[in-house]
Parts: sequence; C-alpha cells; structure tokens
Amino acid sequence: MSLPEIFEAGPEAADLYAALHAQCFPDPWSEADFARLLASSGVQGLIARAQDDPQGLSLIRSVAGECELLTIGVLPAARRTGVGAFLLAQSEIAARRAGSKRLFLEVSERNAPAGGLYEREGYRQIGLRKGYYRDGAAARVLARDLV
Ligand SMILES: CC(C)(COP(=O)(O)OP(=O)(O)OC[C@H]1O[C@@H](n2cnc3c(N)ncnc32)[C@H](O)[C@@H]1OP(=O)(O)O)[C@@H](O)C(=O)NCCC(=O)NCCS
Repeated sequence: MSLPEIFEAGPEAADLYAALHAQCFPDPWSEADFARLLASSGVQGLIARAQDDPQGLSLIRSVAGECELLTIGVLPAARRTGVGAFLLAQSEIAARRAGSKRLFLEVSERNAPAGGLYEREGYRQIGLRKGYYRDGAAARVLARDLV
C-alpha cells in the first residue's frame, strides 16, 4: 500500500482530531480538549490521509529542546499497513524542526501493538510509572534521541 499524505492542522480541525481519536481509543479526548491543546504553546498536530480519507493522527509538544508524543492513532481498518510508523517518523521530523533533540512518550505496558511500533523504531524504556492507567496498568516511559 502506498504511504498516506501527512498534513499539519491546528485548532480549526479539532472536530476531525476528536472524531479520529474516538475511533482509536476507548477513552477519547473531546473536540474541546483538542481545540485547547492545539492552541497551546509548542503543540503541533498531524493528520494522515489517503485519497481524501483521514486515517490517523498524532500530536506532539516541543518544549526547551525536548518533545513529547501526546497521542498517536491509526483507524482500525488502516492498521498494520505502515501508517503508524509513517506518522511517527513525520512527528519526529516536526519535533526536530521545532528544535527538539529527544522525543519522549508513555505507553501502557499492556499495549503490545504500540510497544512493538516504538521498539521497532528505536525507542528505549527509561522509566516505569506503576498503576498509571485507569485499568491499573503501568506506563512505560520511552525515549529516543532525534539525531
Ligand atoms: C499503535 C498503532 C498506532 C500502530 O499503527 P499501525 O499503522 O498499525 O502501525 P504500522 O503498520 O506502522 O506498524 C509498524 C510496526 O509496529 C508493530 N506493530 C503494529 N501493530 C502491531 C500489533 N498488533 N502487534 C504487534 N506489533 C505491532 C510492528 O512492529 C509493525 O511492524 P510490522 O508490521 O512490519 O511487523 C495502532 O495500533 C493504533 O492506533 N492503536 C490504537 C491507539 C494506540 O494505542 N496508540 C498508541 C498509544 S501510546
């Protein structure tokens, strides 16, 4: 499958981000959450689209030379075709452009697909937050240098 087009969109696309997020996560963020986040300092949002159909989203926040991946998701029907890895790579490029030297993220110890993606892309565990998620799972804190 060919790679999707990736475009940056701000708070004006909060409804689209929220609709995509709701299809990717059991506890989705609201349109108001996205509008607030995307209007805040250092936050950039990316949307993946194939033939005009949105397929996924990511949000990053860059502060003082470091970046956090706030969320990333791919619609169930488009998974396992490389969209997630492409969105992650484009998020890293955006983080580097914003002056970040390192990218951090949190992932549930129970989220095997995301854990597999991050490990394949060179992320390493630097911390563990026990009981972090509502289901009692720990959050693995992962990081990768952006060189
Ligand atoms: C995690 C997620 C973004 C991956 O998106 P994707 O488009 O399916 O990922 P890709 O097709 O680019 O896969 C890249 C690699 O990730 C790993 N991976 C992806 N899905 C996997 C799965 N179900 N099981 C194990 N490894 C998986 C594999 O290493 C895969 O490479 P491969 O297909 O060559 O084996 C997607 O599963 C998703 O949206 N999940 C729900 C939301 C979520 O959990 N987001 C992350 C929060 S931290």
